[in-house]
Amino acid sequence: MSKRIALVTGGIGGIGSSICKQLSADGFTVVANYIAPEEAKAQAWLAAERAAGKDVHIALGDVSNFESCVAMVAKIKAEVGPVSVLINNAGITKDGMFKKMSLDNWSNVINVNLNSVFNVTKQVVDDMLAAGWGRIVNMSSVNGQKGQFGQANYAAAKAGMHGFTKSLAQETASKGITVNTISPGYIGTEMVMAIKQEVRDQIIATIPVGRLGKPEEIAKLVSYLVSDDASFITGSNVSINGGLHMF
Ligand SMILES: NC(=O)c1ccc[n+]([C@@H]2O[C@H](COP(=O)([O-])OP(=O)(O)OC[C@H]3O[C@@H](n4cnc5c(N)ncnc54)[C@H](OP(=O)(O)O)[C@@H]3O)[C@@H](O)[C@H]2O)c1
Repeated sequence: MSKRIALVTGGIGGIGSSICKQLSADGFTVVANYIAPEEAKAQAWLAAERAAGKDVHIALGDVSNFESCVAMVAKIKAEVGPVSVLINNAGITKDGMFKKMSLDNWSNVINVNLNSVFNVTKQVVDDMLAAGWGRIVNMSSVNGQKGQFGQANYAAAKAGMHGFTKSLAQETASKGITVNTISPGYIGTEMVMAIKQEVRDQIIATIPVGRLGKPEEIAKLVSYLVSDDASFITGSNVSINGGLHMF
């Protein structure tokens, strides 16, 4: 069997790059999506990964823009092949209390975190259906499950992702495709490490396990969900939050 191709959006970010590393180790041909301002970082990432012997590619595309996703996936298909594993991982935050939240901050967060899931999945699902096998993992957040002060936009987008997961999972289950959501708690990426130590310590104090999660722990979960062993798991929302939110 030829190698399966995995597309990871936001693939050179904190969690995304760990997922790429793990899926490459699992034997996938990995394509890491990035946006234009990350060009230099993406080229450096690609050079380092290839120097380490990895079968990786990069793909420029703005996941919040449908036409950009059409062009990106067409290029991947022509140059690498059809995508059979999609990790919808790209995301942003633009926090602020709802009273002060601008329409821009609402729309940007919904576009990058939620509309992106439509934009990218739409480009790959037909090939998965034709192949009779596919894996889609949507990276949500604990804050999509419980809400969060100052994150009405982000929590709405992340909760919306799981509605998408459950619906598409039902539509594709009989065709060998699984669709799942992962909801991480606080993970020690640059985004979280940039929070002031004092505030971070307060956050950690609320996590029963007593520490931040590691990007590698998210990557291991992705690895399992996209494996053949996980073919009976679909439409689920897997929490990985150190006990921060239990329900
Ligand atoms: N870190 C956490 O504690 C945590 C917890 C729960 C859920 N999550 C979710 O996990 C995912 C990854 O988060 P992370 O911590 O790894 O954040 P990150 O390091 O900021 O990675 C996100 C990546 O997505 C990219 N991106 C942003 N807008 C994009 C667009 N329009 N098109 C394509 N790529 C775009 C970012 O590029 P730029 O850097 O240029 O913006 C970045 O490379 C996100 O969906 C996030 O919401 C993270």
